[in-house]
Amino acid sequence: MIIALDGPAASGKGTIARRLAAHFRLPHLDTGLLYRAVGAKALAEHVNFEDVAALERLAGALDPAALDPESLKAGAIGEAASRVAALPGVRAKLLTVQQDFAHQPGGAVLDGRDIGTVIAPQAEVKIFVTATPEARAARRHAELVGRGEAVTFEQVLADIAKRDERDSGRASAPLLRADDAEILDNTHLGVEESWQAALAIVARRQ
Ligand code: C5P
Repeated sequence: MIIALDGPAASGKGTIARRLAAHFRLPHLDTGLLYRAVGAKALAEHVNFEDVAALERLAGALDPAALDPESLKAGAIGEAASRVAALPGVRAKLLTVQQDFAHQPGGAVLDGRDIGTVIAPQAEVKIFVTATPEARAARRHAELVGRGEAVTFEQVLADIAKRDERDSGRASAPLLRADDAEILDNTHLGVEESWQAALAIVARRQ
């Protein structure tokens, strides 16, 4: 069984994906980490974000086994990730590793922006997790403050709006609900209710 979760930044899809993976004993890939790793490397090596060939080289040299989720969750890296993710050449370099992960025997859980549309269109379960920008910004703000970052709610909301626009507006694999994905809008749901809603969707699709 392949479970595909897509949705905008800070929608809670990562939390649901991790929990579904543990519940069904499936391996899980947070595909945002791949783009974050490329963005982080570009920042660390002072690569010009206009230098498409250099960014494609970084994506091609990425070792997916060496991703450190903790160090990649900083706000500045999310912004860099969404810039490199708009480049078709970067996306192409990261395609095979994601498709191979999705199609391993026994199945997998993947979360991102284009799992149900591009990476695994044949997934048995597709969930589009979403919430209003304000609800997502409030969650991301609490998370960043918890990590010790000095940011205001307004800054986080502006960042979310910019990322939504870039992720939805890009020509290459934009954030899009697959026609056969079920929507889980958790604007007014707590973590537990959101989890129950996800489980109900999987039960319907199995
Ligand atoms: O999900 P997360 O916020 O970690 O993703 C960081 C960025 O990576 C997103 O803003 C998006 O631009 C990009 N991304 C993508 N396709 C995916 C996963 C993430 O374009 N499947």
